[in-house]
Amino acid sequence: MWNRIILWGTLALAAVAFVFAVWVRAWPDVEMGKRLAENNCGICHDLTATRHNNKGPFLWEVVNRPAGSVSFSYSEAFLAVAREKPFVWDAAHLERFITDPSAYIPKTRMAQRDASHPLAFEGIESATNRRDLIAYLSTLK
Ligand code: HEC
Repeated sequence: MWNRIILWGTLALAAVAFVFAVWVRAWPDVEMGKRLAENNCGICHDLTATRHNNKGPFLWEVVNRPAGSVSFSYSEAFLAVAREKPFVWDAAHLERFITDPSAYIPKTRMAQRDASHPLAFEGIESATNRRDLIAYLSTLK
């Protein structure tokens, strides 16, 4: 009798804990996104209202900004895509770009190393991390 109560009680508690964990992770974690952005994007992109260009263009107000629209020397590969099919950086475009930049815009300088820029960005693998990152980017305004 008691064995059963303990067994079912434990299972019920585990189920509640699981549902709670899923529920919490259903919302983006902006603080986590900030850390991810500082660690993964901050080496090449200014994330502040100072709007400095670094290896990449500044990312202040990037969400809903037309691609290739700030005063920065974009690569030819990037401009070709942005001119041929102009688009704005909404969540869907950001999601695809940061999953794998060179699959989205072949030869983009973001994913390339060269003598003056030894750093390259290969993408964020985790969908949860991408979601948190994009939620943080939308606060940069
Ligand atoms: C190794 C350096 C580097 C890293 C790391 C990097 N980027 Fe970039 N990013 C660039 C460069 C360079 C460009 C310009 C692309 C081109 O000209 O081909 C760029 C362009 C962009 C653009 C286009 C902006 C515009 O004005 O149209 C977005 C959006 C972007 N990066 C987001 C990110 C995000 C988000 C991260 C982090 C998850 C990130 N980048 C990490 C170098 C980097």
